[in-house]
Amino acid sequence: MKFFIDTASIDQIKEAKELGLLDGVTTNPSLMAKEGITGKDNILKHYATIAALVEGDVSAEVISTDFAGMIAEAKELVEIADNIIVKIPMIMDGVKAMSWCTENGIPTNCTLVFSGAQAILAAKAGATYVSPFIGRIDDTNWDGMELIKQIAEIYAIQGFETQILAASIRSSKHIVDAALAGADVVTCPLSSYLGMLKHPLTDIGLAQFLADYRKGNS
Ligand code: E4P
Repeated sequence: MKFFIDTASIDQIKEAKELGLLDGVTTNPSLMAKEGITGKDNILKHYATIAALVEGDVSAEVISTDFAGMIAEAKELVEIADNIIVKIPMIMDGVKAMSWCTENGIPTNCTLVFSGAQAILAAKAGATYVSPFIGRIDDTNWDGMELIKQIAEIYAIQGFETQILAASIRSSKHIVDAALAGADVVTCPLSSYLGMLKHPLTDIGLAQFLADYRKGNS
């Protein structure tokens, strides 16, 4: 399973890279705004900076909601770097745009996916990745992880090649559950990856080993 970082923060991306955990990056307009990146030129420049920092795929999201606008943005985004993936929302014109991108060799990430039906459409449109939003489903008192399991089963039965990118991941438990449910990729903030490190028995065990070493070597 690949680890993508869900941020537009250069510091977080660099830290994940130093840990050796970085397989790719996902961004969205909200994450860009959080970093204070505004205006088309600055946004495109920021994507270029991120794409140069990582070897893996970098999802860059379109702002348009109509077919022609999405295609124009997709063409512009893929010019930035070879590892840019065009992130397109699961709406009617989005499906048309993803199909067009597939026919024209442009890789896509279908975002804002909340059902198995939407995931089937994304795969039929030839999306490279499908992004079901786990945490946001949990927020509505449904089980987001059940959706990952359902999509994994459908894709296996149907032989769809679209990769399942578990998004809106908020904890290390989500990461473990997504791995079990068959996700190909998880994307989350650095804090969720760092949370995976933690176990009290590791801390207690290490403290004991070091104390015993000091006793024997004092
Ligand atoms: C991923 O591509 C999405 O941008 C992201 O995971 C959404 O996460 P959120 O629900 O925490 O905003």
